[in-house]
Amino acid sequence: MQTVTALPDLRQAVDELRGTEGNRRTLALVPTMGALHDGHLTLVREAAKMADMVAVSIFVNPRQFGPNEDLDAYPRQLAEDSAKLEAEGVALLWAPTVSAMYPDGYATNISVSGVSAGLCGSDRPGHFDGVATVVCKLFNQMRPDMALFGEKDWQQLAVIRRMARDLDLVLPHVDAIHGVPTVREPDGLAMSSRNAYLSPDQREAAGTLPRAMDEAIARIREGQEAAPTLAALEDQLLGAGFASVDYAELRDADSIALLDADNGNSRLFVAARIGGTRLIDNKPVSG
Ligand code: PAF
Repeated sequence: MQTVTALPDLRQAVDELRGTEGNRRTLALVPTMGALHDGHLTLVREAAKMADMVAVSIFVNPRQFGPNEDLDAYPRQLAEDSAKLEAEGVALLWAPTVSAMYPDGYATNISVSGVSAGLCGSDRPGHFDGVATVVCKLFNQMRPDMALFGEKDWQQLAVIRRMARDLDLVLPHVDAIHGVPTVREPDGLAMSSRNAYLSPDQREAAGTLPRAMDEAIARIREGQEAAPTLAALEDQLLGAGFASVDYAELRDADSIALLDADNGNSRLFVAARIGGTRLIDNKPVSG
């Protein structure tokens, strides 16, 4: 695996890996912020099935963290991550510095409206601008044939697809932006780099989140009204030791519009805090 940290080296490495016209190899990108877990490695394995070569980016993107968020505490473990990627047969690791990504005088922002409204867009102002901006840069820097993202960050995936469609991105084309189902721990908790912040007690309580979501989904499918069902879900989380619930909402899977009942294409989205850690999850409601 080749590791590059400067843009000219990335361009050269990508050109060499792709090969010449007539013998051109396809490249899949898995963008990450590092602290790699099995969820990320599943994205890498899926990418390897879809393309000749896999590239991974590791960049803790300051523009997607709010002023009171965990940018400084976010786990950084490049050597460990690198060994995991090497073992998966990844061809290229792009690990730019902050100044390589945002040189002095950097002034451009991409803001995607609509799908970024509500949910994490309300709770984390500017977050999706930061995500859209860095992902657009990663795409332009590497020009992969395809890119893969985890469905755990469903709204993020919707924002990235809309950005790619609206800006007529060529590589990857919007149809080559793939979502991969969430990878879960044995108790159902969605894998996340932030799970590492949880104490053993908090980790045990966190397992209530996917269970409470499954129960709420079952009730909505049985025809119970969404509002009281979601209020009961919130109470269940607070009773299990969550400090607060940022949102528990039913939304359209594509437009992310708020719903008060299943519309045949709905998902349940929850963000809740346990100790200082914010966990998010989403699951399909429509059968
Ligand atoms: O999902 C993430 O890890 C990040 O938001 C991403 C897509 C790598 C952009 O920084």
